[in-house]
Amino acid sequence: MSCQNIVLIGFMGSGKSSIGRLLSKKLGFQFVDTDRVIIERAGMEISDIFAQHGEGYFRDLESTTLASLTHLRRCIIATGGGVVLRETNRALLSGLGFVVGLTADEEVIFERVSRNAKRPLLQTENPRETVRRILNERLNLYEAAAQFTVDTSQLTYEQIAEIIINEVRRAFQWQSAP
Ligand code: S3P
Repeated sequence: MSCQNIVLIGFMGSGKSSIGRLLSKKLGFQFVDTDRVIIERAGMEISDIFAQHGEGYFRDLESTTLASLTHLRRCIIATGGGVVLRETNRALLSGLGFVVGLTADEEVIFERVSRNAKRPLLQTENPRETVRRILNERLNLYEAAAQFTVDTSQLTYEQIAEIIINEVRRAFQWQSAP
């Protein structure tokens, strides 16, 4: 794969942004976070996009943003947790780079997402139940879209980054450093 991008997918709280930044530092690749690109283009926070325009509008922005990244080379691309919902996005992901899925136990996910109240889909009466439901709805989609999956529940970010780099080294046939 000539573009040599690494694309991170996974549920909210699976560690895409933190691990993406670490990979970017270790490999010297630029870090691109699709949620950040959406925020910049829309000129408002994700929670405001959901509140003012609804989820459908956000999903359209997400698809347009993903489609606009095909020129990237040697980047780490972190995506939003719902990117796998649309078939068109799933098709784009595989062309964008080597797709790494990050997973974590439901308990770990809930603990991580509870630290931050910014996620609009989790502003419900019972966020614990919402996490369980959405995670179950999406598990198969993440699994099918990822070329390689790492369970982040019991590992440090440093360990996860090394596991991914080893796998990517094989996938991109790097002989030594990238
Ligand atoms: C979403 C995940 C969020 C963000 C939006 C919707 C989802 O990104 O794109 O709130 O549907 O799972 P993170 O996965 O980075 O939290």
